[in-house]
Amino acid sequence: MHTFKAFLLFACVLSSFQVGCSMSQKRESDGPVVVSTWKFGLKANEAAWQVLSSGGRALDAVETGVRVTEADPNNGSVGIGGTPDEDGNVTLDACIMDETGDCGSVAFLQNILHPVSVARKVMEETRHIMLVGKGAEEFAYEHGFDKTNLLTPRAEERWKRWLEKNGRGQLPAINIENHDTIGMIALDEKGNLSGACTTSGAGFKIPGRVGDSPIIGAGLYVDNEVGGACATGWGEAVIRICGSHLVVEYMRQGHAPRKACRLAVERLIARNPDYREIQIGFLALNKKGEFGAYCLRSGFQYAAYTTEHGNRVIDSKTKL
Ligand code: GLY
Repeated sequence: MHTFKAFLLFACVLSSFQVGCSMSQKRESDGPVVVSTWKFGLKANEAAWQVLSSGGRALDAVETGVRVTEADPNNGSVGIGGTPDEDGNVTLDACIMDETGDCGSVAFLQNILHPVSVARKVMEETRHIMLVGKGAEEFAYEHGFDKTNLLTPRAEERWKRWLEKNGRGQLPAINIENHDTIGMIALDEKGNLSGACTTSGAGFKIPGRVGDSPIIGAGLYVDNEVGGACATGWGEAVIRICGSHLVVEYMRQGHAPRKACRLAVERLIARNPDYREIQIGFLALNKKGEFGAYCLRSGFQYAAYTTEHGNRVIDSKTKL
């Protein structure tokens, strides 16, 4: 009997050790945390941190944060200044998700500077989750958003040169010529998580194309019991595996954020035969404030802001 009890105890210790190992990424902070994709996430994190460090809600932090990137005309992949489609129109996709699991989204939205804020209005002021195209634009005007020309002279020039050199139907290489989405996940002082994701999508895309960024579960997913995740890169590949939801589900199984992202990248490789031609990055933050990222091939960076380490850029681990 004694031997049997000792065996059970040993088995329990062993299994908790294994779970412990899979969650072994060190918690960096007891306070709030915000993470966002790419180096341009640094500025967005600064704005989000203003909200978080004064006790604000993670939802307000992520909206405030990604609005900075949306308003930056020098960013060629998000908001104003974003690379247009092959007809020369800038079309934006965005979504937002809060700690209750509520969410809102807009896709193929034109002439509106802050799609993430329209997505929040959809979430808070309608019974729907997703509005697209003209309907989303009309909804935005009805809710006080102004009409803005999103095609900057620089982006227009880029589009004309591209068309002249390549013609219609050609896409630039993701991660090399086309930098992509901002996704942001925040954990506030109360321990609540929220996320936001916003992009102008693939440069010179076929008009009407929508990627993963506004699709809840693909470009972004938040489960306040577990953690949140977002994606950047070739949206078609992310949609195929419901990427961000998959990362959160791997975290639910006990995996640390970076391992969860790695497992999602491995699933993506298995489901996308063209994986050598694309880039994908997943970024995750769990309920404990641990975070990590994993990408398909080198070049993906993310920004993380914690009390202990401030705001910094971190190179993602990579598969290829
Ligand atoms: N990840 C952004 C897009 O594919 O549109």
